[in-house]
Amino acid sequence: MRDQLRHHEYLYYVLDQPEISDAEYDEMMRELKQLEDAHPELITPDSPTRRVGGKPREGFVKVAHSTPMLSLDNALNEGELREFDRRVRSLLGDEKFSYVAELKLDGLSLAVHYKEGMLAQAVTRGDGMIGEDVTENAKTIRSLPLRLKESHASCEVRGEVVLTRRAFEKANAQRDAEGLPRFANPRNAAAGSLRVLDPAITASRSLEFFSYFLLDGGKPACASQWESLKKLDQLGFKVNPRRRLCPDIDALLAFCREWAEKRETLPYEIDGVVAKIDSVDQQTRLGWTAKAPRWAIAYKFAAQQKETVVENIEVQVGRTGALTPVAHLKPVNVGGVTVSRATLHNEDEIARLGLQIGDTVLIERSGDVIPKVVRVVKQGSDRRQFRMPDHCPICGGEVVRAEGEAASRCINTNCPARLKESILHFAARGAMDIDGLGEALVNQLVDQRLVKNIADLYLLKADQLIELERMGRKSAQKLVANIDRSRRAPLPRILNGLGIPFVGERTAQFLAGEFGDLDAIAAASVDQLQRAEEVGPRIAESIHRFFSEQRNRELVERLRAAGFDFKYAAKPTTGGPLAGLTFVLTGTLPSLAREEAKSRIEAAGGKVTGSISKKTDYVVAGAGAGSKLDKARALGIRVIDEAELLKLIGS
Ligand code: IVH
Repeated sequence: MRDQLRHHEYLYYVLDQPEISDAEYDEMMRELKQLEDAHPELITPDSPTRRVGGKPREGFVKVAHSTPMLSLDNALNEGELREFDRRVRSLLGDEKFSYVAELKLDGLSLAVHYKEGMLAQAVTRGDGMIGEDVTENAKTIRSLPLRLKESHASCEVRGEVVLTRRAFEKANAQRDAEGLPRFANPRNAAAGSLRVLDPAITASRSLEFFSYFLLDGGKPACASQWESLKKLDQLGFKVNPRRRLCPDIDALLAFCREWAEKRETLPYEIDGVVAKIDSVDQQTRLGWTAKAPRWAIAYKFAAQQKETVVENIEVQVGRTGALTPVAHLKPVNVGGVTVSRATLHNEDEIARLGLQIGDTVLIERSGDVIPKVVRVVKQGSDRRQFRMPDHCPICGGEVVRAEGEAASRCINTNCPARLKESILHFAARGAMDIDGLGEALVNQLVDQRLVKNIADLYLLKADQLIELERMGRKSAQKLVANIDRSRRAPLPRILNGLGIPFVGERTAQFLAGEFGDLDAIAAASVDQLQRAEEVGPRIAESIHRFFSEQRNRELVERLRAAGFDFKYAAKPTTGGPLAGLTFVLTGTLPSLAREEAKSRIEAAGGKVTGSISKKTDYVVAGAGAGSKLDKARALGIRVIDEAELLKLIGS
């Protein structure tokens, strides 16, 4: 039965050629579930019933990639693509070579590891060096085989996770119904669906996985990219059938033009074409720059534009009180996605566009950016000037535009709109990471005056939450537990969560590392603050101003009383491209002295030890490396040279 179900899953999700009805499939699945419930000892991890077996987790575990998942350089027009071709030809001399042209799906890349033919681990791209383990979520993607068709010992498959346009529109309709903010584009929606702690959410979103790399020990498994794609096909993966082996640049350009033309006919979004040199041997000789391979390029399509009417302009109030005008548009399909809003940034932008309500405008969306208004194409016959309100549309407080600033701000620090945005920022990933504290809930908490200040979150009781809409006992308890857990967040996340203007994740990390204590940061002068890396006068001023405000000082005290720990012992192993990795150095490296290599590794978050053990992740070998190298080989530990080390560090 498992084999049969697997077969039908493959026909339906990979080949798009089902042979049985959905009802028949569901019935078979139900039967298998019943059998497995009655005989749990017979369940295997690759059973089709195991796709949604995982439980929600506390957080994601970080995993280092076998080789960096870098991105591609872009060619923004045909000229740049020809330029790339010229570069390749000059590097390869007179050799013949061909291009594999693939569609550039607009999703997020994922590395999936198979051990003895079974799906073992799926890791997001992350920063390219280290990603997050999303195995349980990835297993819910039906076009991703749990078991390979041919029992291949072990391999790694890389590809793109995407959401079809239909699934994207459906996800947004659902978010509208729940009062949550919409996903800006299918890519964000795919990322938001894969990087959730509860696999049941991923399962509900119908993600798809298109594979494009087959690796073995971090290296291409076949001699050419074209062969790899064929092999992936045979192993049971979904490989985009819209691909072409092109003998030269003209054939490649023809493929690009063809798909720029036909892109809207596809059920998912593409933002260009990826061209890869076919031969792996030639790829190896072309090599990599620090950021991208020299053997591949992404040809990006031009942004898509459409005309529509601005029906209204409304303002949104952000966390800093800034009022942002947003154009409400007559809904229009741009490149297969319905667009009904576009940001107008501020009053100056509206003036620059000469835009009034009722005008017909040209809007543009390109890949991942929020749609924007390019220009007015026709003035409305009944047009109406937009005026920034004098009073905040949310709290009625005074609106002020400071000299030299583009933004108008609501200056009421207790404005509920500001408070709502502050709470959302505080609860977000990268800050307190409070799962379950979304927009719909924050609206209710603020509107019902259960939370008048961020610190009030820590006084919430499950009994109070149960009273709210769409909140059961279980989710209320879970939320209270998540809030409770957030008290233990380390200082950089707390600092980020406070929402100090100009202080994001990175600056927060530098500040925490430099001062080691929130109280020291709060007490520091503008000059002292600039001791921290990347903190200049503007950021320092902003931090200083933040902590000189009475209400912010009170917030800090209330968080302290709630049990927050503001001390921070900088751990070099958190963050950094080598976080969590252990290195052993042996032999003489070509340019780095031993001490220098060690400090570079440590600065990037890695650890250097003197002897090799099973815990060693990499051995960096130079000239004259001896017994350590043999031991590393015996234990199957990866041996790299200085150049590869520098690539891992990202320099
Ligand atoms: S090759 C170093 N092939 O586009 C190799 N990428 O910057 C890079 N993408 O991050 C990947 N479709 O997420 C490749 N057929 C395809 C692709 C593809 C989409 C994405 C991928 C990558 C980005 C390129």
